Amino acid sequence: MNPAENPYNPGAGTPPPELTGRDGLIEGFGSTAKRLVRGMPGQSTVLVGLRGVGKTVLLNVFETQAAAAGAIAEHLEADQDTLTPDVLARRMRSALYKLAPQDSWGRGALAIALRVVASVRVTFAPRGVTLGLDVEPLSGTGDSGDLREDFVDLFVAVGEAAREHGRGVVLAIDELQNLPDDVFRALIMGLHRCSQLKLPVMAVGAGLPTIKGKAGDVKTYAERLFQFVEIGSLDTSDATRALVVPAEQSGIRFDGMAVDEILARSQGYPYFLQEWGFGVWNTAAGPIISREDVMRADRNVQTKLDESFFGVRMGRLTAQERQYLRAMADLGPGPYRSSDVASALGMTLQRAAPIRGRLMGKGMIWSSDYGETAFSVPLFAEYLRRDVVVPTRSIEPRR
Ligand SMILES: Nc1ncnc2c1ncn2[C@@H]1O[C@H](COP(=O)(O)OP(=O)(O)OP(=O)(O)O)[C@@H](O)[C@H]1O
Ligand SMILES: [Mg+2]
Repeated sequence: MNPAENPYNPGAGTPPPELTGRDGLIEGFGSTAKRLVRGMPGQSTVLVGLRGVGKTVLLNVFETQAAAAGAIAEHLEADQDTLTPDVLARRMRSALYKLAPQDSWGRGALAIALRVVASVRVTFAPRGVTLGLDVEPLSGTGDSGDLREDFVDLFVAVGEAAREHGRGVVLAIDELQNLPDDVFRALIMGLHRCSQLKLPVMAVGAGLPTIKGKAGDVKTYAERLFQFVEIGSLDTSDATRALVVPAEQSGIRFDGMAVDEILARSQGYPYFLQEWGFGVWNTAAGPIISREDVMRADRNVQTKLDESFFGVRMGRLTAQERQYLRAMADLGPGPYRSSDVASALGMTLQRAAPIRGRLMGKGMIWSSDYGETAFSVPLFAEYLRRDVVVPTRSIEPRR
């Protein structure tokens, strides 16, 4: 069929042609956003799930809903190196400028909040960096040097400005597992104070399950303040709709066996469904897609997945890290006990522990509450067991 008319949309954060299985969450957040603007901030939500389950897509939908409810949504992607206090403060400033027309910027709570942003920026600017400040810092507010205290000042000031203008502010933070712990802690403190004061500021986040492995107090605070919502693969009916509805809209039908075959191969994971839909569309002649069409598309789809989705991730690992993952996969379906993986590798637990730690840091694996390890990428064990040619480029850590 004509590739130019292919409706499927595999990618990172790319909106699917038919978003299924998330109606409850979308509706729920719609109400939360409306309540926020009315001065009743709800619990901040974190979407937790494996790679490719649709976290970013959902976060983007939440942002659209926040905007429709009259709130300002600021999108951030967390990164160990770049999500500094200054970046967060600048995003707050950007939200403040969107709260009201320019002639209000110099008055009331909005003017104060802009000055608190300047205070925080000056206080946490990296040494030697000159900031182009648009307003004077506000002495005594947001300038203690204690990130938590200063973020409380900042969030409260932003909340008061939003309230003054009958709006709300939603920080949407993707890849939340990468947020540096000190910024995470300060963010939680700021949000917590706003919820106590009923100020309309909240956060929605998305991240890998590794987020649950955050260190001690960060984890405790986060669990108290955030509502963690797990999102995963789609059930049979939602996965079927995600696959067949986009085709139907172009007059193309899947026969039942073709659907069963794709559901089995993708295991209902949204990203894989898009890749399968995309691949089969390009291979089939239509107007009915059969199981044979799926089999014919198999090589192309599998190669694309192996190279782009799985292979790219493998390429970022050292030889040792790849061996660790391979040992996990060879143990069968997870989750895996660290001691089993270590003995499969012929290593002591102590020697294997740093490799496991690095793989967690790279978001390849995560650890459940019981200390067991699982893959963060769906179907990764199957990929490894398919006896792939492991990329030879080794990136051994420098000593
Ligand atoms: N509910 C859904 N129904 C159908 N397709 C979906 C759904 N959610 C996401 N997708 C598709 O899945 C793919 C992955 O989505 P997305 O990038 O949001 O996942 P993610 O969880 O953020 O992944 P990552 O952890 O790699 O960032 C996209 O191609 C998207 O169109
Ligand atoms: Mg994402």
